[in-house]
Amino acid sequence: MSSSRHLLYKWAILLLSALLLRLSSADVGTGSRYGPPYMPTACFGNDGSQFPTNNHFAAVGEQMWDNGAICGKIYLVRCLSGSIPKACVSGKAIQVKVVDRAATSVSRPTAPATFVLSNDAFAAIANLSANSLNIEYSRG
Ligand SMILES: *[C@@H]1O[C@H](CO)[C@@H](O)[C@H](O)[C@H]1NC(C)=O
Repeated sequence: MSSSRHLLYKWAILLLSALLLRLSSADVGTGSRYGPPYMPTACFGNDGSQFPTNNHFAAVGEQMWDNGAICGKIYLVRCLSGSIPKACVSGKAIQVKVVDRAATSVSRPTAPATFVLSNDAFAAIANLSANSLNIEYSRG
């Protein structure tokens, strides 16, 4: 194999590894929850069809809001630890749809957070007695 060809392979492998690493990387943040009423939302107003049928949705904190660009996006969220012992349903990750901005949601979050989860989403990954969680999240 010529050395330039060899170099090309090296680059291709490097690029692929970087891509894979990026795809599997998750960010760490905080999670809390909010209850009904959930509408109107900053993303979709009073449109009742905005909520997934399993009610796994969320409002996001200002650091994620990005002028609403995040509206409708799906994130994979996993509970790492919480404000009470054994707060997490161990290892479980769920997909949540972003429908609101936590700063202006009709119902107030239990605590400021990166992701303010609906009651159903929160209950799926943690004990409802916990006010706040440490979470891992990535685009789902
Ligand atoms: C949730 O947390 C509360 C308070 O710590 C505890 O009493 C309860 O047993 C927990 N529920 C579950 C299902 O672990």
